[in-house]
Amino acid sequence: MQSVIVQTPSGDYPIHIEAGALGSIARSIPDNASAVIVVTNPTIDALYGETVRQSLQAVSCPVQFVSLPDGEAHKSFDSLSQILDALLAKQRDRRAVIVALGGGVIGDMAGFAAAIYMRGIRFVQIPTTLLAQVDSSVGGKTAVNHPLGKNMIGAFHQPIAVEIDTNVLQTLPQREISAGLAEVIKYGLILDEPFFAWCEANAQALMNRDPEYLSQAIERSCQFKAQVVGADERESGLRAILNLGHTFGHAIEAGLGYGQWLHGEAVGCGLIMAAELSHRVCGLEMAQVERVRALVGAIGCPVRAPALGGADHWFDLMRGDKKAQAGEIQFVLMPRIGEAIVRAAPETAVREVLAVCCESD
Ligand code: NAD
Ligand code: GLY
Repeated sequence: MQSVIVQTPSGDYPIHIEAGALGSIARSIPDNASAVIVVTNPTIDALYGETVRQSLQAVSCPVQFVSLPDGEAHKSFDSLSQILDALLAKQRDRRAVIVALGGGVIGDMAGFAAAIYMRGIRFVQIPTTLLAQVDSSVGGKTAVNHPLGKNMIGAFHQPIAVEIDTNVLQTLPQREISAGLAEVIKYGLILDEPFFAWCEANAQALMNRDPEYLSQAIERSCQFKAQVVGADERESGLRAILNLGHTFGHAIEAGLGYGQWLHGEAVGCGLIMAAELSHRVCGLEMAQVERVRALVGAIGCPVRAPALGGADHWFDLMRGDKKAQAGEIQFVLMPRIGEAIVRAAPETAVREVLAVCCESD
């Protein structure tokens, strides 16, 4: 088993990375837990619910399962209410522990329920998608979507442990592997050129789900995320670099309608657009832009952005990004691979990027 420790002002917690970790998750339930509430969805319950039920036989308190409908469309107040209803119906107290068993959608919602139930109870993340294992389960961002904006209602609330079972990646659809790899290569782009080069060299092994390479990618990604979150838990500065490619990516998701492209696919394409913009405004060499384009393609993410009805609509969508300040769009940019900055960019440069990267109408 590999372990990464996340150290934040709100508390420290371990990330355990292990093939077969689902069989050992009882180690992350504190002895004084009064109940364990596993939040999941029918897809994951069918695949891994039984293993988790058996594993939790080792804890002495009651175990309750709450199954929510699958999909980003259900990352909603309705689903959040279902979790809270289940807790209240059984009169769960402050020592209850929520376990989030699923991808980023389940993790964000179960974490938010833990943040607000009785003003905050403990929760454990068991991420089952690659994206959740390398990104969303670590760092304490929790949320639901509002009809007027994605992830707009939420809280920072750190888990007490993250249990990553690399075996569960074998049942993921291939598109979900590509989407998760986009977040993996992001870490190389913002923090570590040698890691980006390692991803280039091993893209095929990662796409083929070679367990050794996937587990290395997960461990390095968790280390990078822990480093950034430890330095800036609540995104008052540095943490914003984790949003490389996301200003463009969120516009794609919102513009096409959530679920058309996966979040990670949109981020992958957004990495290319951020690289093109970096070339125009902070000197990233064109050869480096081409490396980004080639790797995004090699991990199976789209390399051309949708037209979304033209540049003006793109700007409307990007102004809805949470990083926007007084209506000014902020971008994460790379002066070189391995270094990131956050700043506004001239509109002419953004329009050039849209012209170069988007399909025509
Ligand atoms: P997801 O949670 O919707 O999971 C994708 C699909 O895979 C779902 O249908 C799910 O049921 C299925 N699935 C999950 N594990 C499986 C497995 N092992 N085998 C087979 N199928 C499995 O999507 P996601 O990409 O994990 O998460 C996306 C969400 O994460 C978005 O809502 C995004 O906003 C959020 N997110 C949050 C953070 C954060 O820091 N909190 C960071 C990035 C993304
Ligand atoms: N995924 C961005 C963050 O955790 O800050």
